[in-house]
Parts: sequence; structure tokens; C-alpha cells
Amino acid sequence: MSKVLVTHQLPGERIHELPDHCEMNVWMGPGLMPSDALRDELAGCEGVLCLLTDRIDEALLEANPQLRFVSSMSVGVDHIDVTAATSRGIPVGNTPGVLVDTTADATFALLLAAARRLVEADRFVRGGHWRVENAWSPEFFTGNDVTGATLGIIGLGEVGQAVARRAAGFDMRVLGWNRSERTVPGVENTELDALLAESDFVSINVALGEETRNLIDERRLALMKRDAVLINTARGGIVDEEALAWALSHDRLAAAGLDVFAQEPVQEDHPLLSLPNVVTTPHIGSATLATREKMADIAAANVLAALRGEAMPSCANPEVYQR
Ligand code: GLV
Repeated sequence: MSKVLVTHQLPGERIHELPDHCEMNVWMGPGLMPSDALRDELAGCEGVLCLLTDRIDEALLEANPQLRFVSSMSVGVDHIDVTAATSRGIPVGNTPGVLVDTTADATFALLLAAARRLVEADRFVRGGHWRVENAWSPEFFTGNDVTGATLGIIGLGEVGQAVARRAAGFDMRVLGWNRSERTVPGVENTELDALLAESDFVSINVALGEETRNLIDERRLALMKRDAVLINTARGGIVDEEALAWALSHDRLAAAGLDVFAQEPVQEDHPLLSLPNVVTTPHIGSATLATREKMADIAAANVLAALRGEAMPSCANPEVYQR
């Protein structure tokens, strides 16, 4: 029987089908599987079902020539060297589709929270700062209007499109930029620099890859309106965090809502964390129980297909099947 490593206990139903088809080795924790344990446990495995925290790099693939497939319980696969996998004919499964609305909801939650300073206001109340002498004033905790504002969406994939649908409910004008031309109802295709210059809110919904790494750099941040708000629920490496922190602390940008960081978990002393105009969450864009169960089911279905010698239903590098 094939050996398959599962790097975390997973929710959902389909994971329970695996033991009928393979020898399943599940990392039981505590916590996430450390990289040295991943290296050790992968020995002799034909497949691995991993999380986005598991780095599957070329060295790991090189050390495991018996590995036939990788299935990740994530839509993003930037933690996997997909090029190296493809060159070895290894399919890389991912879990698109099912997390689209959940992630778009999280994007809007951050957008509204950053626009209306919700977290700062919450801290103010809980910190005992709301007193009779400052109970209300015309400028008290004023933020930015969302309704009727212009939203620029970077990346018009499924999540970007779902964000655009939500924006329609707020009567927003929606600009969109995508690496390849894509027509989306209600979205005006706009060059990236013009999108940044015209938008009151910018939402990053593009995958991280070589083309998008550091896409929003110092020059592009400087194009944004001073009172604009930047939201990132995609990947941290897309934004130059140092330049972002500078812009936010020098009145060059109103606020940011960040679910992702270049290095996760983000260091406690990261400059962005000391800024009151940053709302942040720990990479939880797809975090509802129902969505996580669906993601785990797709990841398990990808493993089951690979074990049967069939094409994975959701594969990030389907070209491996063209050979
Ligand atoms: C989450 O970030 C995912 O890629 O699934």
C-alpha cells in the first residue's frame, strides 16, 4: 500500500476515506509539523497532504524521488516549488472555489474595519479612554466612507470578482487590474498605476508568484491617495511592508487592513503592528468551519484521485497530465 503523509489532523469527511486506500501517517502535533519532522516523515511516502505552512521546496523533492503527488489544503501554492514539482511530473493539488465567498467576506470585514477605525475604537473603549469629557465630538473617530467610494481590485480571479460583487452593494465604483486581460461585469479594467492613483480603497486579491512579488512597492504606494486604504488578504510578499509602514506613519496613506504578512507569524516588533491605523488578522481569510471542511474534502479528494492514478480534480499544475 502507498504511504501518504498528512501533516495535520484535518476536518471534513473525506479524509476518513484515505486509510482504505493508503497507509496514512498523520502528524498529531502538538502544533504544526516542524520542517525537520516533515523531512524525516516524508521518506518513503508516495504522497503528502500538507498545509500552507509546510514548505515543499526543491531540496525536499530531490530527497524524495519516490514522491508522486502533493496535495495542499490551500488555494495558494507559493509554499511549494511548483516548477520543480512540474519538472518531476508531480501534480500539486490545491483547493480553489470553496473559499471564495469566505475570503471575500473577510476582505470586506477588514475594509470596513480599517475605513471606520473599528479596532482602534474598540481598544479605546476597552482601555477606559471613553470619558465624559471626550464622549463625542464632530471629529471623534472619524473615518472614511465606503459607500460610493472607488475600489481598486488587484487580481480579478474568483476572490477578486466576489469582492467586486460585494462592492456593488455599497454603490462603489470598481476598478480592476489583472495580469491577463479579464472582463468582469461592473469592473472597469484599469492599468495598475492608474488604479492605485484613483482608488479610495485598494484590495489585493492576486496570487503570489515571481511576477507579483513586491508588486506594491515604494513607488506604487506613493501613487496612492493620501486618504486611501489598502487591504491585503492574498499574500504578504506582494506588498513592500517597510514602505507600507513608512507611508502609514507619515500620513501618506490612511489605513491598512492586513490578513497576511511576508513572514508568518509576523514578529511582535514588526513596524506595522505598532501603528494604530493598521487592522490585522492572522491569515484567517478562509477561516470558517464550513469552508475549512470543504477545503479539507477537496484536498482529500485530490489525494484519492492521485492514489487511483487519476488526474486530481483541482490541480495547480495540470500540465503534468499532458505528458
Ligand atoms: C489561504 O491563504 C489559501 O491559500 O488557502
